[in-house]
Amino acid sequence: MRVVSGIQSSGKLHLGNYLGAIAQHIEMQEKNECFFFIANYHSLTTIQDPKLHIQLTRDVALDYLALGLDPEKAALFRQTDIPEVTELAWILSTVTGKGLLERATSYKDKVAKNISPSMGLFCYPILMAADILIYRGDVVPVGKDQVQHIEMTQDIANYFNQTFACDILKRPEPKLGVAPLVPGVDGQKMSKSYGNTISLFDPPSKMRKRIMSIKTDSTPVESPKDPEQCNVFAIYKLLATEDKVADLAKQYRAGGLGYGDAKKALFEAVEGQLGPAREKREQLEQDADYVEDVLRTSANRARSVAHEVMSEVRTACGLATIRD
Ligand code: TYM
Repeated sequence: MRVVSGIQSSGKLHLGNYLGAIAQHIEMQEKNECFFFIANYHSLTTIQDPKLHIQLTRDVALDYLALGLDPEKAALFRQTDIPEVTELAWILSTVTGKGLLERATSYKDKVAKNISPSMGLFCYPILMAADILIYRGDVVPVGKDQVQHIEMTQDIANYFNQTFACDILKRPEPKLGVAPLVPGVDGQKMSKSYGNTISLFDPPSKMRKRIMSIKTDSTPVESPKDPEQCNVFAIYKLLATEDKVADLAKQYRAGGLGYGDAKKALFEAVEGQLGPAREKREQLEQDADYVEDVLRTSANRARSVAHEVMSEVRTACGLATIRD
């Protein structure tokens, strides 16, 4: 099976990115052909400081490698190293109705937050469709917030195939993991744009402080509490082992457990998962050449697939170039 997914380089990656997407990616690299990319064309819709953008792009690569992406098994590359993607996006935009894009909830959310929309933001789902269709991805492992974009990708593939009477573009399926919607410190979806994230690789003291800031209610320590109503437990249950989750739930219900203790348990669970990766990341940070080499080698692999598919796409549309 061919697996394709991307992550924007628009800020520090957080627990939502890891539990919703990256953990699935790392698991899937074992048995599938995987293409994972840093969606830096997409993040240009929000990051327009060039130095920062270079840094954030590199950070996503470091995070992925530290978390266990094995470049021998999976390709990890920059979206911008595959220029065919933007070429395909243009072609797809000619078969996609404006109405489809107007229905995108992530676009509507941003407009509702008074973000003045650029054409790039409006056309974001078309670029995302190009990202997936250019590798003929079978499956796209993502968090719940991206499912509508994958469904749009399915529609866009159909529009293209119908318009040009062909079967070149493959309809992908979304895949959700065990944590499709990780809540943030305020209980809403964890998201860079809501300012409610727990970053993956902050120093332990900062991470602890952030976890201590998770919103809880004012139930006194001695009173029994419903774990299912608590933001701390909501994250804990996505991270800890089944036994530990059952044990903490019991303590909530029994009373006598303060939210401070629950937060401490969460901090330990997060550190247990991310502590070793943080150390690996620090080592990788010293080896910029290695990271760059991984990105380039992977891009070459991805580009040979993209080149082939684009050639077929151009032929189907009657577009000749000197590259074919
Ligand atoms: P992005 O960069 O916002 O998020 C990257 C991945 O993390 C998932 N995610 C979450 N999962 C669970 N709970 C959360 N709170 C949470 N927050 C984020 C996202 O669902 C995503 O899987 N448009 C995409 C990037 C992209 C892409 C693609 C993805 C560009 N091209 C092609 C798949 C295929 C985005 O903005 O993800």
